[in-house]
Amino acid sequence: MEHLLNAVAERASRYLNTLDGRSVAPTPDAVQRLSQLDEPLPDHPTDAEAVLALLDEVGSPATMATAGSRFFGFVVGGSLPAALAANWLAGAWDQNAGLAVLSPIAAKLELVAMRWLLDVLGLPAGCGAGFVTCATQANFAGLAAARHALLDRQGWNVEAQGLFGAPPITVVVGDEVHVSVLKALTMLGMGRERVVRVPVDGQGRMRADALPPLDSHTIVCIQAGNVNTGAIDPASEIIAQAKAAGAWVHVDGAFGLWAAAAPERADLVDGVGGADSWATDAHKWLNVPYDSGIVFVREPQHLHAAMAVNAAYLVGSETRDPTHYTPDFSRRARGVEVWAALRSLGREGLADLIERTCRQAARFAEGLRNAGYDVLNDVVLNQVLVSFGDAETTRRVIAAIQQDGTCWAGGTVWQGQTALRISVSSWATTDADVEQSLAAMIRAAESVGATAKPVLPA
Ligand SMILES: Cc1ncc(COP(=O)(O)O)c(C=O)c1O
Repeated sequence: MEHLLNAVAERASRYLNTLDGRSVAPTPDAVQRLSQLDEPLPDHPTDAEAVLALLDEVGSPATMATAGSRFFGFVVGGSLPAALAANWLAGAWDQNAGLAVLSPIAAKLELVAMRWLLDVLGLPAGCGAGFVTCATQANFAGLAAARHALLDRQGWNVEAQGLFGAPPITVVVGDEVHVSVLKALTMLGMGRERVVRVPVDGQGRMRADALPPLDSHTIVCIQAGNVNTGAIDPASEIIAQAKAAGAWVHVDGAFGLWAAAAPERADLVDGVGGADSWATDAHKWLNVPYDSGIVFVREPQHLHAAMAVNAAYLVGSETRDPTHYTPDFSRRARGVEVWAALRSLGREGLADLIERTCRQAARFAEGLRNAGYDVLNDVVLNQVLVSFGDAETTRRVIAAIQQDGTCWAGGTVWQGQTALRISVSSWATTDADVEQSLAAMIRAAESVGATAKPVLPA
């Protein structure tokens, strides 16, 4: 075992150390070589080191270099050194984090991490939380708690009786709702097409002045961090209206919630703490390894009612049993890396991570604007949208950037306009990486003949 673990440490270090010198996207040749894995299940055992060698030699070149410093696609963080190391140790521990009796350390670290998260995210200290796989699951769990609370108030036990014949619930979303909220509603039997959509402004923010009449049978889903623009819904205004009507407010804050951790950005999420439930990711801006999302619920009993299980063989404990707050039962100890990331960064390190990546996003916007290309969004957070002309030209620039391999960013269509979408979410990105990537983007635009507009002096 010792030899194997030393070997994996050596291979992993080599992998990380060589990321800077390789194309961010895997080469077509590396992807082609994955066919070596198409073999029949071996009849006989294989030595673990040989399995590792195959994985590294065929697998490592076929990775996307998201652990490196120049990946700007989707909203993808890297892995902080302490978080990666904690993940390895937790792998060796192989803890089942479902019950405190099965893993006192996993249960403890979740509690500590939960307390720290509530503090840095500016959420009420009494919230309950569940450590789930991703923001989609966090949205699912938060909305399950909302469904429980709203129906319970009307004397309907949805967990026992299901939704057949239940009083209706209205779900209000912004027109720019993330698909994960719709997926969560689908899984909850609340129907993704039954939602009431509220118009948004030019940045994708829900318009508080366009909310429909609300009541105590309504869930209002607001967004902190639009996946394209990074824009944050006007929480204070929406929450004030919702609360006055007795509605439940759920916040999809997969990445935008983290603005609260950076003093210079915190005003963007003003009022968000007044909601009833929140979903976020740790594998995005906190930079812990996949997978890691978190749900928070102001009144923990609603999350507990929606998620808890009971059976004679389940030994309850004095402390919180994590399984009662998540959709899954047996699971890995996700709180370990969240704890390690926060413990290593501290309050200042976290604020710096958020602020630095926002600043780097602003630099991308400035550099591309100065080169004569259109930045389509107000760069308030870590997301930048850039048009290089018509849709076809922009698509060709994106393909050229991806092929060049210096960095990687994807495309999107924002309010009818095709755009390059840049997300700066990794702790590893340096200012020099931004300059190198900017130069590569401009080179790519020039190579496909995208016309830069003359830039007028400010
Ligand atoms: C606003 C928002 N909500 C939810 C999600 C889904 O996150 P996950 O892929 O972790 O489920 C994303 C992903 O980018 C997002 O931006």
